[in-house]
Amino acid sequence: MHSGQPAIVCTSISKTYQGQTALADVSFTAYAGQVTGLLGPNGAGKTTLIRIVTTIVKPSAGTYQVAGFGPDQAIDIRARIGVMPESAGYPKRTRAIDLLTYHGRLYGAPADEARANAMEMLMAVGLADRRTDRIGTYSRGMRQRLGLARALMNNPRVVFLDEPTLGLDPAGQQGILELIDELAAQRDVAVLLTSHLLAEIQGICDRAVILDHGRVVFDAEATQGLSEIFHKVTT
Ligand SMILES: Nc1ncnc2c1ncn2[C@@H]1O[C@H](COP(=O)(O)OP(=O)(O)OP(=O)(O)O)[C@@H](O)[C@H]1O
Ligand SMILES: [Mg+2]
Repeated sequence: MHSGQPAIVCTSISKTYQGQTALADVSFTAYAGQVTGLLGPNGAGKTTLIRIVTTIVKPSAGTYQVAGFGPDQAIDIRARIGVMPESAGYPKRTRAIDLLTYHGRLYGAPADEARANAMEMLMAVGLADRRTDRIGTYSRGMRQRLGLARALMNNPRVVFLDEPTLGLDPAGQQGILELIDELAAQRDVAVLLTSHLLAEIQGICDRAVILDHGRVVFDAEATQGLSEIFHKVTT
């Protein structure tokens, strides 16, 4: 998949839970080599959409393609995506390097290769010097970085990050956003990240989609119009 090619294509996706609408007729495209921001207030449907296109939840209607594969090719999709979920749990007593190596092996890499890749990812997220520490001793920001490293262990073509900067201080937030930016630009990865912070989206996203009550109310390259619509949605 090359820069600029469609990596995530959502077509009229709807999702209802017990008659309640979580997503209604959502269509948009995200491209390889770009960071796409999915913006919206609490309950807008961001996490639901990510769970659908990562093959965890089935849509009530509509369809999608991720890295060229559809909903009935979940195994192909899963092999090509990296996910940092909304609330990730980590084994406290496990060392960071061991957790990542384990994930690499789950994806089929031999032990040596998985360990080397784990080390490379820890360096990429700035955790190389803490690699043998137990995860229970990590700060929240360090866990977020570890989550990003974990999402990259299978060299994914499409990466989903659900509120990757949640709870980080301004420096930590900036650090992780820069990492994400590099990831898209240097590895030609398509990144979809969610946020409810306008500034964050404006800072690094090449394009933005705003969801409100499960509907797309904005979809374009991140521009001035984004602020106006976002303020309407959130006030
Ligand atoms: N498993 C579920 N069962 C029932 N309703 C659900 C379920 N998951 C999500 N919903 C509902 O779907 C709507 C969208 O929720 P979702 O978690 O996708 O929002 P979000 O945009 O990620 O919000 P936040 O910013 O708070 O993370 C909400 O009304 C929520 O209550
Ligand atoms: Mg959410």
